[in-house]
Amino acid sequence: MSKLDTLLAQAGSRWDEKTGAISMPVYHSSTFRHPGLGQSTGYDYSRTANPTRGVLEQTLARAEGGEAAQAFTFASGLAAIDAVARLFKTGDRILVTEDVYGGTFRLFEKIFRPYGIEAVYVNTADQAAVQQALNSNIAAVFLEVPSNPLLNVADICAITDLARSKGALTIVDNTFLTFCRQRPLELGADIVVYSATKYLGGHDDVVAGVAITAKPELAEKIGFVQNAAGAILGPQDAWLLLRGLKTLPLRLAKQEYNARVLAQWLSRHERVSKVYYPGLSHHPGHDLLKRQASGFGAMLSFEVADANRIPAILAGVRVFMFAESLGGVESLITFPSVQTHADIAPEVRERLGINDRLLRLSIGIEDAEDLRQDLEQVL
Ligand SMILES: Cc1ncc(COP(=O)(O)O)c(C=O)c1O
Repeated sequence: MSKLDTLLAQAGSRWDEKTGAISMPVYHSSTFRHPGLGQSTGYDYSRTANPTRGVLEQTLARAEGGEAAQAFTFASGLAAIDAVARLFKTGDRILVTEDVYGGTFRLFEKIFRPYGIEAVYVNTADQAAVQQALNSNIAAVFLEVPSNPLLNVADICAITDLARSKGALTIVDNTFLTFCRQRPLELGADIVVYSATKYLGGHDDVVAGVAITAKPELAEKIGFVQNAAGAILGPQDAWLLLRGLKTLPLRLAKQEYNARVLAQWLSRHERVSKVYYPGLSHHPGHDLLKRQASGFGAMLSFEVADANRIPAILAGVRVFMFAESLGGVESLITFPSVQTHADIAPEVRERLGINDRLLRLSIGIEDAEDLRQDLEQVL
């Protein structure tokens, strides 16, 4: 099998035998003509299967888990997590990373809790806390690694071992590092989920989600939910993702380089009181991530010494853009306590460190010195 960079560079490029099209055609067809009664081309109706989405799903499955894996794409990252959460039933308890993305928290609290599926929030970077929580009849562990926005790192291998010994599944949200840097299925996880809106797409032009597993019985169930509940990814968005995937390794390398330069510089800045970046040796997850992944990603958060400066910083940036996504080629600055994590109770946010001094940066592929100067002028 070709290596990951080759697989991604040629995503969708070898599918169309008839014309030899190198860019995967976008099949804007909701339905497909049957050759005869009881016969099918393999495509009948696009909620069930669409060629453009199918090629994307094959590429993602190969990239994440090799030949045995299957991938399912959805209309958003939350739709993918929603589909995976539907594998559980009333009375099931799911152990969840406590500083998980705010939308994931809202999904578990406002959609699934009323149906009797209970999320139990734990600091999954604390192995003893995970071990203790797993004693209380848990059906699955949902890890975000590194977590959003504090970049805490859970030990995927150790937690999946523990979970398996208790009969629980492990699901990993791999949005921040992607299969280019961290490979949860190889570390023992059962299901990997993504907001493909972020690094996989990479250009802030598509909202999408993915769920991937190498377990046939789980694939069958997720595939059933994808078709039966119907939150599928449309063909145009599937094509945007295919195009984005081609440059993922290159983008990530430059983004990581820029993130490292800025994290080091910010950690020496007098107006900055704290920097969260797992690539810095003092970060509590540094050593673990060094073993568990092949890079530290391009997300970093920092606390300004004076909370009163936040409005001026957000209004004053000229290269960074004040917006709430991440993973694109453009650098973004976010204020998590009022944006991405507003749904988490204020006292919980404060305890976790998602406070009114914390800013999150998604580092893009711009010139590192332009980014540094931009932060310097606002700080
Ligand atoms: C780590 C993580 N997971 C899931 C999601 C949800 O993805 P989407 O916005 O594509 O629904 C996000 C969105 O910001 C995220 O950051």
